[in-house]
Amino acid sequence: MNNATVTLHSEFSIGDVDPRLFGSFVEHLGRAVYEGIYEPGHPAADAAGFRTDVRDLVRDLGVTVVRYPGGNFVSGYDWEDGVGPRAERPRRLDLAWRSVETNEIGVDEFMEWARATKVEPYMAVNLGTRGPEAARDLVEYCNHPGGTRMSDRRIANGRRDPHAIKLWCLGNEMDGPWQIGAKTANEYARVATETAKVMRWVDPTIELVACGSSNRGMATFPEWEATVLDATYDHVDYISLHSYYGNRSDDLPSYLAKSIDMDAFIRSVIATADYVKAKRRSAKRIDLSFDEWNVWFHSNSKDKEIEPWSVAPPLLEDIYTHEDALLVGCLLITLLKHADRVRIACLAQPVNVIAPIMTVKGGPAWRQTIYYPFMHAATAAGRGTVLRAAVTSPTYPTEEFGDVDLLEAVAVRDPQMGSTTVFAVNRGRDPLAVEIRTGDSAGSTVAHTSLAHDDPKATNGPDGERVRPVDLPAQPVHGGIATVTLAPLSWNVLKVARDAR
Ligand code: AHR
Repeated sequence: MNNATVTLHSEFSIGDVDPRLFGSFVEHLGRAVYEGIYEPGHPAADAAGFRTDVRDLVRDLGVTVVRYPGGNFVSGYDWEDGVGPRAERPRRLDLAWRSVETNEIGVDEFMEWARATKVEPYMAVNLGTRGPEAARDLVEYCNHPGGTRMSDRRIANGRRDPHAIKLWCLGNEMDGPWQIGAKTANEYARVATETAKVMRWVDPTIELVACGSSNRGMATFPEWEATVLDATYDHVDYISLHSYYGNRSDDLPSYLAKSIDMDAFIRSVIATADYVKAKRRSAKRIDLSFDEWNVWFHSNSKDKEIEPWSVAPPLLEDIYTHEDALLVGCLLITLLKHADRVRIACLAQPVNVIAPIMTVKGGPAWRQTIYYPFMHAATAAGRGTVLRAAVTSPTYPTEEFGDVDLLEAVAVRDPQMGSTTVFAVNRGRDPLAVEIRTGDSAGSTVAHTSLAHDDPKATNGPDGERVRPVDLPAQPVHGGIATVTLAPLSWNVLKVARDAR
């Protein structure tokens, strides 16, 4: 058996986790909103039509913040279509997803859902077909107490209290040719700056995210970030990153190593943001919002067959495998390793659209394989301090990344409980023995939860969960060391604590 080590000490830390690292993203796309979070008439729907079974699963998942309403959708969206009496709301062509948008759900309803689900909203403004004026009006509608045109409109729509939305993003993927109203870096930098100014003049307490590149492979990356941040630096707080991964060539060794790409992307954006900081002699630091990430490829060819212009078509309905859950685990570990700079991250998306939760119309909601690593990380690491753990691992060869560590791991300490949790993926097809050197964590046992399956292509479905975590016997700590064995191709949660619970 191969051996790996993880050495812990609480004095070596990377930074505190911002709970918003475990965010998600609801877009008006496919069945994310309609038949996803909202299905009036469903047996589990509340009085407003929101599915309580989905809400419970989102809560259990540990989601903290939810970006809305897009995505590509937002770049053609008139937010005014989605407020006021429903009978007067227009049906509109959504050019981003070639669907029909009924506008039954808009900002007011989304805020009701967010409040009931206990998640923080993260609102996107349209910088594709619109600009500073619509964004300013939306901030006024949402956040101004009353006595003005837009705030009184909210009150007239039955929402006396302001929505008090703190986090906003300035458009979506504006560098992408597929984006409605795509822009050059200079064009975007200008409109983002002027939009940020008026949004902040309406509400100086808001936080703003500028659009970074749509992915690391864009020809304009990272010049885009340098240009955009140079112009917007004093007006924004974060720069966004997006990335989706897939096992397109059915090469599992390389697929499980794709977190190396995410790591390189994050490092490059940090370097670019800090270059602009140096250039401007600025004392301010720009942090990162990785506000779209996930596995996305299973549904690509099926989506091409979907007829355009229907309401809530089944778009982007990836059915995830066990190997996808392992990569999601590696991506979560990578985000945690950068917790000092990546303050916000959104798994795209929570329900039906490339999602950990799926629904059957009129039927049950069920958990995909990727649900579990996210839930484990969000619940055990949401308020911890990431440790600078020393990890050694044997390696394995890959086509895409050369030799890669079999063990991907990160440790997060819970200062209140005094426990430390190691999240670990065994990328290999053999069991992996890991020696955990517990340092000053004073743990007496290591509790072990494992997500493993013999078949990397195993999936879950409405009929049952073939891929689900199991609790294994806790391992004792002797002389500050515990040895745990990670099953082949497994995601693991190893909690070092005074007792096994
Ligand atoms: O999440 C699906 C889509 O992926 C989003 O609309 C877009 O921003 C990205 O390309």
